[in-house]
Amino acid sequence: MLVLGIETSCDETGLALFDSRKGLLGHILHSQAKMHAEYGGVVPELASRDHVRRQIPLLKRLLADAGIERSAIEGVAYTAGPGLLGALLGGAAFGRSLAWGLGVPAIAVHHMEGHLLAPMLEDPAPAFPFIALLVSGGHSMLVKVAGSGKYEILGESLDDAAGEAFDKTAQLLNLGYPGGPALAKLAEQGDPERFNFPRPMTDRPGLDFSFSGLKTFALNTITANPDDQQTRADIARAFEEAVVDVMVIKCRRALEQTSISRLIVAGGVGANRRLRARLKSLTEAMGAELYYPRIEFCTDNGAMIAYAGCMRLQADSEDDLAIHARARWPITDL
Ligand code: KG4
Ligand code: ZN
Repeated sequence: MLVLGIETSCDETGLALFDSRKGLLGHILHSQAKMHAEYGGVVPELASRDHVRRQIPLLKRLLADAGIERSAIEGVAYTAGPGLLGALLGGAAFGRSLAWGLGVPAIAVHHMEGHLLAPMLEDPAPAFPFIALLVSGGHSMLVKVAGSGKYEILGESLDDAAGEAFDKTAQLLNLGYPGGPALAKLAEQGDPERFNFPRPMTDRPGLDFSFSGLKTFALNTITANPDDQQTRADIARAFEEAVVDVMVIKCRRALEQTSISRLIVAGGVGANRRLRARLKSLTEAMGAELYYPRIEFCTDNGAMIAYAGCMRLQADSEDDLAIHARARWPITDL
């Protein structure tokens, strides 16, 4: 089955073609990051309008590059939530209407299920069951995945998501938007010994996270120290060490607690190099397997939506003719 995937939940317009027989046939992405940069964050109304402007030209290019006729599309998967409602509605209306016009089924996909299944696009793909560390700009959670569609949340952030903490701390360091990659780059020049940030919620049992205190700790450290480039790099490094350390500790606990020996990492923060290196050491020491999507499929993309949608369409969960969009949508509702 050849499925078109459409992702418009935030500031990336992503489209992709996934074929259940041949795999991923093409993907295309337009990032709005530059457009939002001057405002220091995503402006929802600008995001919605831009998705609507981009999606038809992107679809034409995707089909042309893959050498595929529009009429060959056998199903359409679109992100229905969670995300910015206006942004979601653009892709949902487009996807649902296109499917209706083509006379093929459509499916509303959960954005986090997309992230969670993104490692399945790689070779080798992880087998079930596995533990998923999902760390994006909007969510941080540890999920026990027994199979496709069988998700149990083991822990999640009680306040800021990991990516949100990266972005907010980056803003305090005047690194612009999106701040995560810029902060990680600055941290490479930092001295890990100069500042020591707390490791929130690691001194008690459980798998929940809390990252908002680290942003406050960063602000206090910035205020109490001279404002020079080395100090900023040292603060970035200490912040990154703390966030990564917390995630590694919680992953170890989740693997031990469930006796599952397979870990997958997905979502934008999964692109972080220090996190990847630390999780590699952890899983090697535990004799566990570690899987990631390729870097470009860690952040938002259409390929993960096409894949998740294809799995659901093949399981016969086709949608009605309604256009579905939900700003909030717990993954446990699936
Ligand atoms: O998954 P994603 O593209 O969008 C959401 O669904 O939220 O994740 C974006 C988040 C942003 O907060 C961004 O700063 C963060 O992922 N991010 C990173 C890195 N690359 C992206 N955070 C830390 N280190 C990185 N290398
Ligand atoms: Zn995402």
